[in-house]
Amino acid sequence: MAGAGAAAPLVTDLSLDDLERDARHAIGEMAYAYYAGGAEDERLLEGNVAAWGRWQLHPHVLAGLAEVSTATTLLGSAVDSPVAVAPTAIQGLAHPEAEMATARGAAAAGALLVLSSLATCALEDVAAAAPDAPRWMQVYVLRERARTADLVARAAAHGYRALVLTVDAPVPGLRLREWRQGVHLPDDLALPNLAGESTRSARGGGFMAVVANECEPALSPDDVGWLTGLSGLPVVVKGVQRADDAVRCVEAGAAAVVVSNHGARQLADAPPTADILAEIADAVGGRAEVYVDGGVRRAPDVVKALALGARAVLVGRPSLWALATGGADGVTALLRWFEAELRRAMALCGTGTVEAIERGLVRRALG
Ligand code: FNR
Ligand code: LAC
Repeated sequence: MAGAGAAAPLVTDLSLDDLERDARHAIGEMAYAYYAGGAEDERLLEGNVAAWGRWQLHPHVLAGLAEVSTATTLLGSAVDSPVAVAPTAIQGLAHPEAEMATARGAAAAGALLVLSSLATCALEDVAAAAPDAPRWMQVYVLRERARTADLVARAAAHGYRALVLTVDAPVPGLRLREWRQGVHLPDDLALPNLAGESTRSARGGGFMAVVANECEPALSPDDVGWLTGLSGLPVVVKGVQRADDAVRCVEAGAAAVVVSNHGARQLADAPPTADILAEIADAVGGRAEVYVDGGVRRAPDVVKALALGARAVLVGRPSLWALATGGADGVTALLRWFEAELRRAMALCGTGTVEAIERGLVRRALG
Protein backbone atom coordinates (compact mmCIF):
# COMPACT_ATOMS: atom_id res chain seq x y z
CA MET A 1 0.00 0.00 0.00
CA ALA A 2 2.59 2.52 1.08
CA GLY A 3 4.70 3.71 -1.77
CA ALA A 4 1.91 3.23 -4.29
CA GLY A 5 2.12 6.83 -5.41
CA ALA A 6 -0.02 6.22 -8.48
CA ALA A 7 -3.00 5.22 -6.28
CA ALA A 8 -3.09 8.58 -4.52
CA PRO A 9 -6.10 10.79 -5.33
CA LEU A 10 -5.33 14.09 -7.02
CA VAL A 11 -7.01 15.97 -4.20
CA THR A 12 -8.33 14.83 -0.85
CA ASP A 13 -10.48 17.77 0.14
CA LEU A 14 -10.86 17.44 3.89
CA SER A 15 -11.34 20.40 6.23
CA LEU A 16 -10.66 19.81 9.91
CA ASP A 17 -12.61 22.98 10.74
CA ASP A 18 -15.67 21.55 8.99
CA LEU A 19 -15.19 18.19 10.72
CA GLU A 20 -14.97 19.88 14.10
CA ARG A 21 -18.08 21.94 13.46
CA ASP A 22 -20.05 18.90 12.31
CA ALA A 23 -18.77 16.85 15.24
CA ARG A 24 -19.86 19.51 17.69
CA HIS A 25 -23.31 19.45 16.18
CA ALA A 26 -23.43 15.65 16.38
CA ILE A 27 -22.13 15.15 19.93
CA GLY A 28 -23.52 18.15 21.79
CA GLU A 29 -21.96 20.71 24.08
CA MET A 30 -20.85 18.51 26.97
CA ALA A 31 -18.83 16.10 24.86
CA TYR A 32 -17.53 18.97 22.76
CA ALA A 33 -16.31 20.82 25.84
CA TYR A 34 -14.49 17.72 27.05
CA TYR A 35 -12.81 16.99 23.74
CA ALA A 36 -12.01 20.51 22.61
CA GLY A 37 -11.00 22.05 25.90
CA GLY A 38 -7.57 22.86 27.27
CA ALA A 39 -6.21 23.94 30.63
CA GLU A 40 -6.42 27.40 32.22
CA ASP A 41 -7.14 30.09 29.62
CA GLU A 42 -6.40 27.60 26.83
CA ARG A 43 -3.51 29.69 25.50
CA LEU A 44 -1.54 26.59 24.58
CA LEU A 45 -4.31 25.09 22.47
CA GLU A 46 -3.72 27.66 19.76
CA GLY A 47 -0.04 27.83 20.70
CA ASN A 48 0.54 24.20 19.80
CA VAL A 49 -1.03 24.67 16.37
CA ALA A 50 0.65 28.01 15.68
CA ALA A 51 4.13 26.74 16.55
CA TRP A 52 4.20 24.35 13.60
CA GLY A 53 3.51 27.35 11.40
CA ARG A 54 6.68 29.07 12.60
CA TRP A 55 8.72 26.36 10.90
CA GLN A 56 9.06 26.31 7.16
CA LEU A 57 9.95 23.49 4.81
CA HIS A 58 13.02 24.17 2.71
CA PRO A 59 12.62 21.87 -0.28
CA HIS A 60 15.15 20.08 -2.43
CA VAL A 61 14.60 20.04 -6.19
CA LEU A 62 16.14 17.80 -8.83
CA ALA A 63 15.90 14.96 -6.34
CA GLY A 64 15.26 12.37 -9.04
CA LEU A 65 12.33 10.79 -7.18
CA ALA A 66 9.87 8.65 -9.09
CA GLU A 67 8.17 7.33 -5.95
CA VAL A 68 7.51 8.39 -2.41
CA SER A 69 6.86 6.01 0.47
CA THR A 70 5.33 7.04 3.78
CA ALA A 71 5.83 3.58 5.30
CA THR A 72 7.85 3.16 8.46
CA THR A 73 8.14 1.09 11.61
CA LEU A 74 7.27 2.07 15.17
CA LEU A 75 9.09 -0.09 17.71
CA GLY A 76 9.31 -2.70 15.01
CA SER A 77 5.67 -2.64 13.93
CA ALA A 78 5.17 -1.85 10.25
CA VAL A 79 2.77 1.01 9.52
CA ASP A 80 1.70 2.71 6.29
CA SER A 81 2.35 6.17 7.65
CA PRO A 82 4.05 7.90 10.58
CA VAL A 83 0.72 9.41 11.69
CA ALA A 84 -0.73 7.47 14.63
CA VAL A 85 -3.92 7.84 16.66
CA ALA A 86 -3.26 9.40 20.06
CA PRO A 87 -4.89 7.92 23.17
CA THR A 88 -7.99 9.97 23.91
CA ALA A 89 -10.39 9.06 26.68
CA ILE A 90 -14.15 8.44 26.63
CA GLN A 91 -14.77 7.93 22.94
CA GLY A 92 -18.24 6.66 23.82
CA LEU A 93 -19.28 10.33 23.89
CA ALA A 94 -18.40 10.57 20.19
CA HIS A 95 -19.87 7.45 18.64
CA PRO A 96 -21.78 4.36 19.79
CA GLU A 97 -18.99 2.06 18.62
CA ALA A 98 -16.45 4.29 20.37
CA GLU A 99 -12.89 2.93 20.55
CA MET A 100 -13.82 -0.17 18.53
CA ALA A 101 -14.65 2.06 15.58
CA THR A 102 -11.42 4.02 16.00
CA ALA A 103 -9.49 0.75 16.03
CA ARG A 104 -11.18 -0.47 12.86
CA GLY A 105 -10.63 2.89 11.19
CA ALA A 106 -6.95 3.00 12.07
CA ALA A 107 -6.47 -0.61 10.97
CA ALA A 108 -8.02 0.08 7.56
CA ALA A 109 -5.53 2.91 7.11
CA GLY A 110 -2.56 0.82 8.23
CA ALA A 111 -2.01 3.16 11.17
CA LEU A 112 -1.01 2.58 14.77
CA LEU A 113 -3.70 2.95 17.44
CA VAL A 114 -2.96 3.93 21.03
CA LEU A 115 -5.87 3.04 23.31
CA SER A 116 -6.55 5.21 26.37
CA SER A 117 -6.80 3.63 29.82
CA LEU A 118 -9.97 5.68 30.13
CA ALA A 119 -11.57 4.01 27.13
CA THR A 120 -15.27 3.28 27.27
CA CYS A 121 -14.74 -0.08 25.50
CA ALA A 122 -12.95 -3.00 27.09
CA LEU A 123 -9.45 -3.39 25.70
CA GLU A 124 -10.36 -6.98 24.75
CA ASP A 125 -13.21 -5.74 22.54
CA VAL A 126 -10.95 -3.16 20.90
CA ALA A 127 -8.40 -5.89 20.15
CA ALA A 128 -11.14 -8.10 18.67
CA ALA A 129 -12.35 -5.21 16.47
CA ALA A 130 -9.02 -5.12 14.60
CA PRO A 131 -7.14 -8.25 15.64
CA ASP A 132 -4.16 -8.01 13.32
CA ALA A 133 -3.51 -4.28 13.51
CA PRO A 134 -0.75 -2.73 15.59
CA ARG A 135 -2.03 -1.35 18.89
CA TRP A 136 -0.43 0.02 22.03
CA MET A 137 -2.02 0.51 25.45
CA GLN A 138 -1.81 3.82 27.29
CA VAL A 139 -1.34 3.40 31.01
CA TYR A 140 -1.77 5.62 34.00
CA VAL A 141 -0.02 4.18 37.04
CA LEU A 142 -2.76 4.03 39.64
CA ARG A 143 -2.26 4.49 43.36
CA GLU A 144 -3.53 0.92 43.64
CA ARG A 145 -0.67 -0.63 41.72
CA ALA A 146 -2.35 -4.03 41.54
CA ARG A 147 -5.01 -2.53 39.27
CA THR A 148 -2.34 -1.24 36.90
CA ALA A 149 -0.65 -4.64 36.94
CA ASP A 150 -3.98 -6.22 36.06
CA LEU A 151 -4.51 -3.81 33.18
CA VAL A 152 -1.03 -4.50 31.84
CA ALA A 153 -1.58 -8.26 32.01
CA ARG A 154 -4.83 -7.91 30.06
CA ALA A 155 -3.16 -5.71 27.45
CA ALA A 156 -0.22 -8.08 27.06
CA ALA A 157 -2.59 -11.02 26.67
CA HIS A 158 -4.55 -9.26 23.94
CA GLY A 159 -1.83 -8.27 21.55
CA TYR A 160 -1.02 -4.74 22.66
CA ARG A 161 2.60 -4.38 21.62
CA ALA A 162 3.77 -1.54 23.87
CA LEU A 163 2.71 0.35 26.99
CA VAL A 164 2.44 4.12 26.74
CA LEU A 165 3.04 5.50 30.23
CA THR A 166 1.54 8.96 30.60
CA VAL A 167 3.60 11.02 33.05
CA ASP A 168 2.27 14.55 32.66
CA ALA A 169 -0.74 14.17 34.94
CA PRO A 170 0.45 14.05 38.57
CA VAL A 171 -2.68 16.13 39.13
CA PRO A 172 -5.36 17.11 36.63
CA GLY A 173 -4.84 20.35 34.76
CA LEU A 174 -7.26 23.15 35.53
CA ARG A 175 -9.89 22.31 32.92
CA LEU A 176 -12.23 25.23 33.29
CA ARG A 177 -14.27 24.56 30.18
CA GLU A 178 -14.80 20.99 31.37
CA TRP A 179 -15.69 22.10 34.87
CA ARG A 180 -18.10 24.84 33.84
CA GLN A 181 -19.84 22.54 31.40
CA GLY A 182 -20.29 19.86 34.07
CA VAL A 183 -18.50 17.19 32.04
CA HIS A 184 -19.10 13.72 33.49
CA LEU A 185 -19.51 10.10 32.44
CA PRO A 186 -23.14 9.38 31.48
CA ASP A 187 -24.84 6.40 33.11
CA ASP A 188 -24.77 4.33 29.93
CA LEU A 189 -20.97 4.46 29.69
CA ALA A 190 -18.31 2.88 31.91
CA LEU A 191 -14.54 2.65 32.23
CA PRO A 192 -14.04 -1.10 31.91
CA ASN A 193 -10.26 -0.99 31.79
CA LEU A 194 -9.57 0.96 34.96
CA ALA A 195 -12.10 -0.91 37.11
CA GLY A 196 -12.13 -0.07 40.84
CA GLU A 197 -13.97 3.12 41.71
CA SER A 198 -13.15 4.92 38.48
CA THR A 199 -16.54 4.59 36.79
CA ARG A 200 -18.32 5.89 39.87
CA SER A 201 -15.75 8.66 40.25
CA ALA A 202 -16.20 9.73 36.61
CA ARG A 203 -19.99 9.75 36.87
CA GLY A 204 -19.86 11.98 39.91
CA GLY A 205 -16.85 14.27 39.55
CA GLY A 206 -15.89 13.86 35.91
CA PHE A 207 -12.50 12.88 34.55
CA MET A 208 -10.49 15.39 36.53
CA ALA A 209 -11.72 13.49 39.59
CA VAL A 210 -10.47 10.18 38.22
CA VAL A 211 -6.97 11.58 37.72
CA ALA A 212 -7.02 13.33 41.11
CA ASN A 213 -8.35 10.35 43.07
CA GLU A 214 -6.80 7.39 41.33
CA CYS A 215 -3.58 8.26 39.54
CA GLU A 216 -0.24 7.96 41.29
CA PRO A 217 1.09 11.51 41.71
CA ALA A 218 4.62 10.55 42.76
CA LEU A 219 6.05 8.83 39.69
CA SER A 220 9.81 8.60 39.23
CA PRO A 221 12.10 7.02 36.63
CA ASP A 222 11.97 3.82 38.71
CA ASP A 223 8.36 3.41 37.61
CA VAL A 224 9.49 2.98 34.01
CA GLY A 225 11.48 -0.05 35.14
CA TRP A 226 8.59 -1.26 37.29
CA LEU A 227 6.23 -1.11 34.34
CA THR A 228 8.69 -2.83 32.01
CA GLY A 229 9.11 -5.61 34.55
CA LEU A 230 5.38 -6.30 34.69
CA SER A 231 5.13 -7.66 31.16
CA GLY A 232 8.34 -7.21 29.22
CA LEU A 233 6.47 -5.00 26.75
CA PRO A 234 8.42 -1.94 25.66
CA VAL A 235 7.51 1.23 27.57
CA VAL A 236 6.92 4.53 25.79
CA VAL A 237 6.95 7.54 28.14
CA LYS A 238 4.36 10.13 27.08
CA GLY A 239 4.35 13.72 28.21
CA VAL A 240 8.07 14.50 28.19
CA GLN A 241 8.85 18.19 27.68
CA ARG A 242 12.53 18.54 28.55
CA ALA A 243 15.77 17.09 27.17
CA ASP A 244 17.04 16.18 30.65
CA ASP A 245 13.86 14.28 31.47
CA ALA A 246 14.00 12.47 28.15
CA VAL A 247 17.52 11.32 28.98
CA ARG A 248 16.32 10.10 32.38
CA CYS A 249 13.58 8.11 30.63
CA VAL A 250 16.09 6.51 28.27
CA GLU A 251 18.41 5.65 31.13
CA ALA A 252 15.45 4.11 32.98
CA GLY A 253 14.81 1.82 30.04
CA ALA A 254 12.18 3.62 27.96
CA ALA A 255 12.01 2.36 24.39
CA ALA A 256 10.53 5.65 23.22
CA VAL A 257 9.33 9.02 24.46
CA VAL A 258 6.42 11.14 23.29
CA VAL A 259 7.10 14.86 23.36
CA SER A 260 3.68 16.06 24.47
CA ASN A 261 1.90 18.58 26.65
CA HIS A 262 -1.23 16.41 26.68
CA GLY A 263 -2.83 18.50 23.98
CA ALA A 264 -2.65 21.67 26.14
CA ARG A 265 -4.79 20.05 28.84
CA GLN A 266 -2.26 20.07 31.69
CA LEU A 267 0.21 22.98 32.07
CA ALA A 268 -1.00 25.79 29.83
CA ASP A 269 2.17 27.83 30.20
CA ALA A 270 4.39 25.12 28.76
CA PRO A 271 6.10 25.63 25.41
CA PRO A 272 4.46 24.30 22.26
CA THR A 273 5.83 20.89 21.38
CA ALA A 274 7.08 22.03 17.97
CA ASP A 275 9.51 24.32 19.79
CA ILE A 276 11.05 21.71 22.10
CA LEU A 277 11.10 18.66 19.87
CA ALA A 278 14.54 19.20 18.30
CA GLU A 279 16.42 19.67 21.56
CA ILE A 280 14.79 16.58 23.04
CA ALA A 281 15.46 14.45 19.95
CA ASP A 282 19.09 15.60 19.95
CA ALA A 283 19.50 14.69 23.62
CA VAL A 284 18.00 11.24 23.05
CA GLY A 285 20.42 10.84 20.17
CA GLY A 286 18.88 7.73 18.65
CA ARG A 287 18.93 5.70 21.89
CA ALA A 288 15.12 5.56 21.85
CA GLU A 289 12.41 6.46 19.36
CA VAL A 290 10.94 9.95 19.69
CA TYR A 291 7.36 10.86 18.80
CA VAL A 292 5.48 14.11 19.15
CA ASP A 293 1.91 15.31 19.47
CA GLY A 294 0.04 18.56 19.98
CA GLY A 295 -1.56 20.70 17.31
CA VAL A 296 -0.55 18.57 14.33
CA ARG A 297 -3.28 19.44 11.83
CA ARG A 298 -1.68 19.19 8.37
CA ALA A 299 0.62 16.82 6.54
CA PRO A 300 3.35 19.46 6.15
CA ASP A 301 3.42 19.59 9.97
CA VAL A 302 4.28 15.91 9.89
CA VAL A 303 7.26 16.54 7.62
CA LYS A 304 8.40 19.29 9.99
CA ALA A 305 8.06 16.97 12.99
CA LEU A 306 10.11 14.26 11.30
CA ALA A 307 12.73 16.79 10.23
CA LEU A 308 12.98 18.02 13.82
CA GLY A 309 13.70 14.49 15.01
CA ALA A 310 10.43 12.66 15.56
CA ARG A 311 9.83 9.22 14.10
CA ALA A 312 6.05 9.61 14.25
CA VAL A 313 3.31 12.04 15.23
CA LEU A 314 0.12 11.35 17.13
CA VAL A 315 -3.15 13.13 16.41
CA GLY A 316 -5.73 13.55 19.15
CA ARG A 317 -8.69 15.85 18.54
CA PRO A 318 -8.84 15.41 14.75
CA SER A 319 -9.40 11.68 15.27
CA LEU A 320 -12.27 12.43 17.67
CA TRP A 321 -13.94 14.74 15.13
CA ALA A 322 -13.51 12.05 12.48
CA LEU A 323 -14.97 9.39 14.76
CA ALA A 324 -17.91 11.57 15.74
CA THR A 325 -18.82 12.41 12.17
CA GLY A 326 -17.98 9.22 10.32
CA GLY A 327 -17.28 6.36 12.70
CA ALA A 328 -14.60 3.92 11.55
CA ASP A 329 -14.80 5.18 7.96
CA GLY A 330 -14.31 8.72 9.17
CA VAL A 331 -11.15 7.76 11.03
CA THR A 332 -9.83 5.93 7.98
CA ALA A 333 -10.57 8.92 5.76
CA LEU A 334 -8.72 11.26 8.12
CA LEU A 335 -5.65 9.03 8.28
CA ARG A 336 -5.66 8.45 4.52
CA TRP A 337 -5.87 12.22 4.02
CA PHE A 338 -2.79 12.70 6.18
CA GLU A 339 -1.02 9.93 4.28
CA ALA A 340 -1.90 11.24 0.80
CA GLU A 341 -0.96 14.79 1.67
CA LEU A 342 2.21 13.61 3.40
CA ARG A 343 3.18 11.87 0.18
CA ARG A 344 2.54 15.09 -1.72
CA ALA A 345 4.52 17.20 0.77
CA MET A 346 7.42 14.75 0.68
CA ALA A 347 7.46 14.77 -3.12
CA LEU A 348 7.45 18.57 -3.11
CA CYS A 349 10.34 18.51 -0.61
CA GLY A 350 12.33 16.08 -2.74
CA THR A 351 12.40 13.38 -0.10
CA GLY A 352 11.33 9.87 -0.99
CA THR A 353 11.24 8.07 2.35
CA VAL A 354 10.51 9.05 5.91
CA GLU A 355 14.05 8.02 6.88
CA ALA A 356 15.40 10.56 4.41
CA ILE A 357 13.63 13.48 6.08
CA GLU A 358 16.40 15.32 7.90
CA ARG A 359 16.92 18.54 9.84
CA GLY A 360 18.00 20.52 6.81
CA LEU A 361 14.45 20.35 5.48
CA VAL A 362 13.17 22.79 8.12
CA ARG A 363 14.02 26.39 8.80
CA ARG A 364 12.70 28.89 11.29
CA ALA A 365 10.41 31.39 9.57
CA LEU A 366 11.91 34.88 9.59
CA GLY A 367 10.01 37.63 11.38
C1 FNR B 1 -6.37 13.32 25.59
N1 FNR B 1 -5.07 12.91 25.83
C2 FNR B 1 -4.85 11.79 26.60
N2 FNR B 1 -3.58 11.35 26.80
C3 FNR B 1 -3.37 10.23 27.52
O1 FNR B 1 -2.21 9.86 27.68
N3 FNR B 1 -4.41 9.53 28.05
C4 FNR B 1 -5.69 9.91 27.89
O2 FNR B 1 -6.62 9.25 28.36
C5 FNR B 1 -5.93 11.10 27.16
N4 FNR B 1 -7.21 11.55 27.01
C6 FNR B 1 -7.45 12.63 26.20
C7 FNR B 1 -8.75 13.02 25.97
C8 FNR B 1 -9.01 14.06 25.09
C9 FNR B 1 -10.44 14.46 24.83
C10 FNR B 1 -7.95 14.75 24.45
C11 FNR B 1 -8.22 15.87 23.49
C12 FNR B 1 -6.65 14.38 24.71
C13 FNR B 1 -3.95 13.59 25.16
C14 FNR B 1 -3.69 13.00 23.78
O3 FNR B 1 -3.15 11.71 23.86
C15 FNR B 1 -2.69 13.85 22.97
O4 FNR B 1 -1.53 14.06 23.74
C16 FNR B 1 -3.26 15.19 22.51
O5 FNR B 1 -4.62 15.10 22.20
C17 FNR B 1 -2.49 15.69 21.29
O6 FNR B 1 -2.90 16.95 20.93
P1 FNR B 1 -3.98 17.27 19.76
O7 FNR B 1 -3.63 16.41 18.56
O8 FNR B 1 -5.31 16.96 20.32
O9 FNR B 1 -3.75 18.73 19.53
C1 LAC C 1 -7.75 13.83 29.68
C2 LAC C 1 -7.28 12.70 30.54
C3 LAC C 1 -8.28 11.71 30.85
O1 LAC C 1 -6.91 14.45 29.02
O2 LAC C 1 -6.11 12.16 30.06
O3 LAC C 1 -8.96 14.15 29.70
